Amino acid sequence: MLPDIRTPLPGPKSRALAARLRSVEARNVTFLPEDDSFPIFWESGDGCLITDVDGNRLLDMTSAFGVSALGHGTTAVTAAISEQSNRLLHGMGDVHPSLAKLELCEQLCQLSGLADAKVLLGTSGGDAVEAAIKTAILRTGKHRIVAFTGGYHGLNLGALNATARADFRMPFQRHLADFVTHLPYGEPVHTLPPDTAAVLVEVIQGRGGVQEISTEWLMNLRSLCDMTGALLIVDEVFTGFWRTGEVFAHRHHGVTPDIIACGKILGGGMPISACIGSGDAMSGWPVSTGESIHTSTFLGHPGGCAAASATLKALDAMDARTTVTRLGMYLRNHLDVLAIKHASKIIDIRGKGLMLGIQMDAPGAAVALSDALLQLGIITLPAGNGDVLELTPPFVVQEAQLDFVVTAIDQTLTA
Ligand SMILES: Cc1ncc(COP(=O)(O)O)c(C=O)c1O
Repeated sequence: MLPDIRTPLPGPKSRALAARLRSVEARNVTFLPEDDSFPIFWESGDGCLITDVDGNRLLDMTSAFGVSALGHGTTAVTAAISEQSNRLLHGMGDVHPSLAKLELCEQLCQLSGLADAKVLLGTSGGDAVEAAIKTAILRTGKHRIVAFTGGYHGLNLGALNATARADFRMPFQRHLADFVTHLPYGEPVHTLPPDTAAVLVEVIQGRGGVQEISTEWLMNLRSLCDMTGALLIVDEVFTGFWRTGEVFAHRHHGVTPDIIACGKILGGGMPISACIGSGDAMSGWPVSTGESIHTSTFLGHPGGCAAASATLKALDAMDARTTVTRLGMYLRNHLDVLAIKHASKIIDIRGKGLMLGIQMDAPGAAVALSDALLQLGIITLPAGNGDVLELTPPFVVQEAQLDFVVTAIDQTLTA
């Protein structure tokens, strides 16, 4: 099925709801321009399609921030949530655990491929990154974290230290500790700063503009970590669980990390994340004596764990690796043709699997393209400097839907 737009976007109901939201939500959260030209309120989802409150049907090419790989609406995941919630929705994750938590940890250890893997669950990607940073500090006894320009690791005060973007950091600059060194992403790294506990890296930068690095570059980081005793943390929050074709993006490069931070796709739409480390990396955590030093109320939430287990099983059943690789190639080939046709406007097509970016010729150009696509019923997100259009559709996207998107981009750039 394709988009079906019945009202001007946003429609009258979306506009009315936006006015109500403006009066109750903290003003920094949702972009609510005075002219009511944004946003649309979502009502329901089915596969890659979202129906808004005005009855318009739109195509979601974002998986809602890269999460809904299995698509929206009723899936094996919603069935698992329903089943688990009828038995036990909430539990006491770090005191009296649930079977759902145990089973998820077992699945994650196995998928990670790390030696003697151990898991520390969280509820957001930022949580997973913070757990990874703490793990490295504890294991190495060192304090410095090396991260990279363009990197995005979350906005909690801990993770924000590693996130590079100035606009996120600036208002809180005085509250950010000086323990992160940002090096230029993808450029040669000859040495690590003294006292480096970990190198934290996205294998493909998502919000940074779908930026890729070479195998040699990642291998060099691995060697530098090995030489200095630092740990290699890969932030796979966006790239994890077959988004790029491999279960984790670092597998494309044959490099083994010490720690994997992951989230997004994992919960199938439920907020759950994980820091998975090798047994050695995780051995810095002291044995619990009854009071965990890193936990939270919702750690190991039974509903979230059941959703995550069902998500992993469903991705396995659909052969996500083959599906994403095939669909990614299909979209990539069409985008490459567009890039030739619109060579003055499209600078580059980047990414892997179903995580592709169209780099436009100017900052803000992808924002304008994204706005134009929305009017045609296609939901996308700009990334980077507003110069990259990010395409991360659900893995259930149909070729006809991808064709529709490519044609819409073509027409928009031709106009
Ligand atoms: C690579 C990466 N790390 C961490 C995060 C933070 O995840 P969350 O927003 O769930 O805290 C994101 C979110 O987009 C991300 O892309």
